Amino acid sequence: MQTNQRDNRLAEQLRNQIQQLRDELQAHNYRYYILDAPIITDAEYDQHLRQLEKLETELGEPVPSSSPTQTVGAPISHVFEPREHLRPLLSLANAFGDDEVRDFDRRLRDLIDQNMTGRDNFQYVVEPKIDGLAVNLRYENRVLTIAATRGDGRVGEDVTDNIRTIADIPWRFEGDEAGDVPELLEVRGEVYMSKASFEALNKRQERQGEKLFANPRNAAAGSLRQLDARVTAKRQLSFFAYGVGEGTASLGNSHSALMQKLKSFGFAIQAYEVFSDVDALLANYQSWQQRRQVLPYEIDGLVYKLDDFDLQQHMGEVARSPRWAVAHKFPAEEVVTTVEKIIWQVGRTGVVTPVAEMKPVKVAGVIVSRATLHNIQELQRKDVRIGDAVVVRRAGDVIPEVARVVEPAGERGEPAMIPELCPVCGSHIEQAEGEAAIRCSGGLVCSAQLKERLKHFVSRGAMDIEGMGDKLIEMLVDEPLDSPLKLKSVADIFRIDFDALAGREGFAEKKIKNLQRAVEKSKKQPLAKFLFALGIRHVGAVTAISLSEYFHSMEAIRDTDIEALQEVEDVGPEVAASVSAFFEEAHNMEVLAALKQAGVWPDLAKVKDIPEGHPLAGKSVVLTGSLEKVSRSDAQAALRKLGVKPTGSVSKKTDVLVAGENAGSKLKKAQELGVEVVDEAQLMTWLNWHAEDDV
Ligand code: IVH
Repeated sequence: MQTNQRDNRLAEQLRNQIQQLRDELQAHNYRYYILDAPIITDAEYDQHLRQLEKLETELGEPVPSSSPTQTVGAPISHVFEPREHLRPLLSLANAFGDDEVRDFDRRLRDLIDQNMTGRDNFQYVVEPKIDGLAVNLRYENRVLTIAATRGDGRVGEDVTDNIRTIADIPWRFEGDEAGDVPELLEVRGEVYMSKASFEALNKRQERQGEKLFANPRNAAAGSLRQLDARVTAKRQLSFFAYGVGEGTASLGNSHSALMQKLKSFGFAIQAYEVFSDVDALLANYQSWQQRRQVLPYEIDGLVYKLDDFDLQQHMGEVARSPRWAVAHKFPAEEVVTTVEKIIWQVGRTGVVTPVAEMKPVKVAGVIVSRATLHNIQELQRKDVRIGDAVVVRRAGDVIPEVARVVEPAGERGEPAMIPELCPVCGSHIEQAEGEAAIRCSGGLVCSAQLKERLKHFVSRGAMDIEGMGDKLIEMLVDEPLDSPLKLKSVADIFRIDFDALAGREGFAEKKIKNLQRAVEKSKKQPLAKFLFALGIRHVGAVTAISLSEYFHSMEAIRDTDIEALQEVEDVGPEVAASVSAFFEEAHNMEVLAALKQAGVWPDLAKVKDIPEGHPLAGKSVVLTGSLEKVSRSDAQAALRKLGVKPTGSVSKKTDVLVAGENAGSKLKKAQELGVEVVDEAQLMTWLNWHAEDDV
C-alpha cells in the first residue's frame, strides 16, 4: 500500500515536470516560428526536447500528439474555430449628451434608493472607451488557453495564436501567488492599435503598394484576423483589460479592486478616475475632449461604471447591456459636402435603398463619396435633394450617412423621385405593410440581386472562394445567355467552363488554375459555412453553426418542422419560419439539387467524424466543477470532435451536465431542471467510446 502511494506520488511529480517542459517548449516553438524572436539557442532547445523525451519514456504513459516530441514546427493552429465564452460578453448602452448621462445617473439613484437605502453615496469609475475590439481570454490555472473575439457575445472565433503576439497579454500570470486565483478565469479587454503603430503600418502599406487602413480600429481588427500569426506579430497590437467574466467572484468586491488585481497579475490596465456625482462626471467629460488628443491611442468616449459589485449585481442587465454602466460617446465627426446624385441600390434580398452620391470628402480618416439615406421615410424626413449641401457623418465602423441638409438657401432642386420600377431589372417595386423598405419584385430575374447573392456565397465567411471577387462576379452575371461562363444561380459556379476564360484579358493560365482550384476546394467547406452561404434570411454565421451542430446534415434541416427548428439555441419563431420558407420555395430546391449534383453537399458527420450511434451525439452538454484527468478545454475539444456541443450554462435545452469536484450552482440548477448529471468517469468512458461498446 505504502509503495503504491509512493509510486503514485512519483508519477504525479513526473507528470507535472513533463507538463511544465511541454509548456515551455511550446512557448519556445511559438517564439521561434511565429514571433521570429527565439530566446534560447537551438542547442538549448534540443537539450530540453531530449529531456522531455526521456521523462515521457520514464513515465510510460501514452504521449499525446500535441506534445512537442510528436510535432515538428509551428504549433497547431485553431484559428477562427468557434469558441463559446463561459459567460456572455455584454455590450454597453450609449449616452449621447449630458441629458442622457443625467438620466442614467437618476435611474441608478432611484433603483438604489428604493431597495438599498444607505448605499446611495456610491462611486463611479471612469475609464476611456478604447476604440478597438473586445476579446475574451480564458486562463486555466493561470495559463492562457483560449483567446476568442467577441463574436455574437456568446460564441466568438479562436484567435489564440494571434493574441499571443501581444506583449501586454501574459501567457501565464504569476502575481498574487498566495492569493485565491480562480481555476478558470476569463479576462476581458480591448485589443487596439496605438496611433504610432497605425501610422507606421500605413506607411509600410503605402510603400508596398498595399491598401491603407481607414483607422486604427480597422487596422487592429484586420491584424487580429490574420491566418498567419507572423503577420499579426509585425502589426504591434496592444491590449487593455477592463473586466472579468467567469471567475469574478473571488477577485475583490469592486471594479477598482478588480483592476488592481488584474494589474498585479501583469495585465495592462488604463488609468481610471473615481467620481461620486453626476456634475463631476460631466465636468470631467468636458476636459477629455482635449485630453483625448494626447493619449497615444484613439478613444471614442468615456465609460462610467458603478464601482461596487453588490450594487452592480443589484442593477442587473437589459438587452445584453448592464444597467450599471454606460458609454458616454464623443460626438461623431461631421463634414459638409454637396449631393451630386441620388441613386437607388438593389441588395441581395431585393431591398432598394436610396444612396446619395456626393463630392468626395474626408470623414474620420476615410474619403467618402457615397452615403446611405437608409429608406424612403428617412429620405423624405431629411428632404435631401440634388445640389444640397449636406452634413455627412461617420462614427467608428458605421457606414457613412447623411445626417441632415445644411439650412437650404435660395433655389433648390426637385424632391427625389421614388422609383416605381427596379432601376436594374425593371420589375415592379413593392412595399410590404408596416415595412420601411421597398423591394424589387424581380427575384430571380433581377441581376442586381443575383450579383449580391453570389458575392455573399463566395465570401470569406461563407464558401470562401478565393479569387472570385466582385468584378469577376459582375462580369460572369453579365455574360450573354449562351455563354459557357454565364452565372444564373450559385450552382452555376460549379459548372463554369474554365477553358472559356482562357484568352480573356487579365486571365493568365495560372490565375484560371487557381480559381478552378479554389472552386473545387470550396466543396469541402463545412456544413455551417454552406448554410450561411445560402443567404437564408435571418441565418447569420452563428445561427448557421447552431443549426449545423444540431441537425448535422442538409437533409435533416430540410425535413424538419418549425417546432423542431426552435429547439435549436438562438432560433426563435422568426428565424424558424424563414428557414422553413426557404426550403418550401421550389426554385431553392432546384438550386440545392444542382449543388448536390455538383458535389457540394457538406454534412457535419463527414467533417467531424462522429462515430455512429455515439450516446452523446447531437446532445447539448455542460461541464462544471474541476476535472482531474483532462483540462476543461481538452474535454470541450474532444466533445466538439464528437459533434457534441459543450455549452456554458444550464438550461432547459441541456441534455447532460458533467459535474466535476466542487460543482456549484450549475449542478443545483441541473437538478432542479431534471437534467441528467454524470461524473468525470462517465465522461471519460464516453470520450473513449467505440461503436462496439455497450452503453
Ligand atoms: S466595459 C459589461 N470598458 O466598448 C461591460 N468596454 O460599446 C463591458 N470598450 O464591448 C464593457 N473600452 O469592447 C468596457 N473601458 C472599457 C472599454 C470598453 C472599450 C468596448 C468593449 C465593449 C464596447 C461597448
